[in-house]
Amino acid sequence: MDDWRHARLTAFVYDFGIEREWLGRIGGRLVWGADLSRFYRDIHDLRTRLEGGRILDVACGGGTAFRGLPEEGPHRYVALDLSPVMLRRARANARRHGLRDIGFVQASVTALPYRQGGFDLCLSYFGLHCFPDPQAALTEMARVLRPGGRLQGTTVVSGGGLRQDTVISLFRRGGVFGDVGSAENLSSRLAAAGLGEISVERDGAVAFFSARR
Ligand SMILES: C[S@@+](CC[C@H](N)C(=O)[O-])C[C@H]1O[C@@H](n2cnc3c(N)ncnc32)[C@H](O)[C@@H]1O
Repeated sequence: MDDWRHARLTAFVYDFGIEREWLGRIGGRLVWGADLSRFYRDIHDLRTRLEGGRILDVACGGGTAFRGLPEEGPHRYVALDLSPVMLRRARANARRHGLRDIGFVQASVTALPYRQGGFDLCLSYFGLHCFPDPQAALTEMARVLRPGGRLQGTTVVSGGGLRQDTVISLFRRGGVFGDVGSAENLSSRLAAAGLGEISVERDGAVAFFSARR
């Protein structure tokens, strides 16, 4: 979605909020009716759960997910996003946290510049609902995962409540959101991407998902 490529204000407001856990949790509750503690716990846990391997973070935004990483480790982490504004924020964020080994790539999730099976873990936090074609995005993420590799993330979904669905419509009209499906749509899309061991849990209008190639 081209809007994200140029959306400086949206990028700033979103990233400012999600980067500050207390603000992100309030926003998650007020806007999406969801408890985002689990999202923050997931990214804190990366520090202890990573045992090396190649990780692709798509779309990385301002780099909220990698801030939990140890400064050095056996892992190779690639942070990919369409927006140069977000990537600038992500680079600054990495510098602040002393993370020198992250690779930054500007590309679209629908054409990932990687060979098949090159990653062990793909993280996708709050990106899917921004993509115009989430099925194509999931299929690309599945393609670059090795057999047995894992995809985990979060996305806004429809069906969380009238208020949340109204906000989704507004964001869609503003061009900030793409094709936002329900949690059930997400499960079928993960399966259609060739992934298994699918878990999708909805809390308000936020789905926490994981799957394995
Ligand atoms: C809501 S932000 C989420 C960022 C980050 N994962 C987080 O949790 O803070 C959505 C991101 O998707 C990116 N994006 C939108 N369309 C994209 C596309 N086609 N390919 C890659 N990134 C895209 C935007 O630039 C933005 O950084």
